[in-house]
Amino acid sequence: MNNHPIGVFDSGLGGLTVLQDIQTLLPHESLVYIADSAYAPYGEKDAGDIVNRCLYIANTLIQQHKIKALVVACNTATAVAIHTLREKLDIPVIGMEPAIKPAVDITSSGVVGVLATENTLKSDKFSNLLDAHQHKARIITQPCFGLVEAIEQGELEGESTRQLLLKYVQPMLDEAVDTIVLGCTHYPLIEPLLRKLVGEQVHIMSTGVAVAKQLKSQLQSMDAGAKGTALFYTSGDATKVGDLASKFLNHKVDFQGLGV
Ligand code: DGL
Repeated sequence: MNNHPIGVFDSGLGGLTVLQDIQTLLPHESLVYIADSAYAPYGEKDAGDIVNRCLYIANTLIQQHKIKALVVACNTATAVAIHTLREKLDIPVIGMEPAIKPAVDITSSGVVGVLATENTLKSDKFSNLLDAHQHKARIITQPCFGLVEAIEQGELEGESTRQLLLKYVQPMLDEAVDTIVLGCTHYPLIEPLLRKLVGEQVHIMSTGVAVAKQLKSQLQSMDAGAKGTALFYTSGDATKVGDLASKFLNHKVDFQGLGV
């Protein structure tokens, strides 16, 4: 079991931001990544459909790759499906949590912004997280319609993505936000653009490193030895998805078709 791979999945390519943090912290672990591109985005999809896709992906990873742990590298899938996944699977399941806790600790203005999908923001899991922390700071939440779609088109810095992002962050800046939580694993891919819009003084918080640390603590990690491998699958167009992933990761990545 020790040298079995870890499964990592997202609705699309956003989870690659988490995969990179896992590879940095656990370089000897082998990973199998699934981008559910044919069913992306999850952000406004029916919850039942998301749960079914998550179960299908998890079972594929378990049956075909004998994974020893599963990382749900998607805030939306975590918010909607992690309870069911943990109930039905007998391997560790690690999910995303928007970095609100560190954000309320770090803010000086006392105003924190959260960018996420609609499904994440309306979930019970997110409401509980807010309830636990909103006595410490004012927390402004913003569903970012269209942003995952733009990123999945490879539009990381063009004018239309800039306008969209500005529409979402300007009202926060007007309210003196000094800390912005990226509550979707796609958004670190547009962090350079966001940085230009908000300036150097605003903290931008993401969750990948925390998730990698949590994964490490849950694993009997492999001893140092051979470098871990990574395999990539998608339910979408493997060539298109591979080209885009190569652009995001700055090195060639080959995706294989998942079948469904
Ligand atoms: N990466 C997913 C997340 O973290 C994107 C959701 C979507 O597909 O809309 O929420």
